[in-house]
Amino acid sequence: MKIIGTGSSLPKKVVTNDMLSEFLDTSDEWIFPRTGIKSRFVISDEDLVQLGADAARKAIADAGIDKSQIDYFICSNVVNEYMTPGLSCAISQELGISAPCIDINCACPGFIYALDIAETHWLAGKVHNVLIVCAEEPTRMTSWQDRSTCVLFGDGAGAVVLSDGNNVKGIKLHAEPDVSKIWQKRRLMPTPYVTKEEVEVPLQMMGREVFKFAVNASTTEVEALLKEIGMTKDEVSYYMVHQANMRIIDAIKKYLAEPEEKFPSNIRNHGNSSSASCTILLDECNRKGLFKQGDILVFSAFGAGLLSAAAVVEW
Ligand code: UT7
Repeated sequence: MKIIGTGSSLPKKVVTNDMLSEFLDTSDEWIFPRTGIKSRFVISDEDLVQLGADAARKAIADAGIDKSQIDYFICSNVVNEYMTPGLSCAISQELGISAPCIDINCACPGFIYALDIAETHWLAGKVHNVLIVCAEEPTRMTSWQDRSTCVLFGDGAGAVVLSDGNNVKGIKLHAEPDVSKIWQKRRLMPTPYVTKEEVEVPLQMMGREVFKFAVNASTTEVEALLKEIGMTKDEVSYYMVHQANMRIIDAIKKYLAEPEEKFPSNIRNHGNSSSASCTILLDECNRKGLFKQGDILVFSAFGAGLLSAAAVVEW
């Protein structure tokens, strides 16, 4: 497939580190050097359905196609206000489209997992124009009394339209299943038969373990994928790395021995927006006119699962 359009949409509320320090025992002096984050967009009166639909509308307009031409829609999302139907259905209704649609919950690497599903369907001859929307509200998953998690995240949606083309050069997916590293639990409705104790627990994360996994998975997969498809790092124009933590991105840069200018970043003003991160960054770079035809973009993302993935895409 080929990326023919991008879009993104953000909540209007901007929360700075200084604003967090008004109610949390934290500071810009702690947060910024450890994460690279200065502020984040946080959902207030918006609905994630609206943000996802807005990002999709912009991507469809950028692609220059009519929404009726979308023949498959994949939505990457961890949580939203609906348990059912899938967020893809709610966004489809808002958009006025009726293509088959599915939700995936692959956390931060969700965009690359969605890209893999799109490309596989296209290779099977089943689809021509695929919409991917990554819409996330991780600020509704953390406890806002827990300074070790809530300072890291921001909300938003990014969207991509893919069409016929041979521009997806390779994708590598990876799983190291371990729920103890990043998890959250919700309590389901009681029944007369449930005897186990169920608890509601906000997002928990073993920060240092996740940090090590992220750097290791990203560098290993990027190098292995480039080798597999017969490309070298010299041919890479930009690394579109999941915006989780600036120190993770810096470590990846160092291990890959690649220059600063190949790593566009927006973490300073966004924080970690889970799977929306790579697509929001992609849209911002696209709208700034950063990419030219033929550029090689390497996507790399990692997160809960633990899951990670890399993809090489020609612009
Ligand atoms: O998509 C993947 C998502 N996950 C990630 O990206 C997480 C990756 N991990 C990280 O980015 C880092 O591990 C963190 C930024 C989350 C934490 O940095 P750290 O250097 O690993 O700090 P720590 O958790 O070991 O905490 C060090 C100290 C602790 O105090 P004590 O026990 O040494 O007294 C924490 O209580 O820093 C304290 N601390 C804070 N202090 C002020 C933790 N969070 C904060 C905070 N403000 N926000």
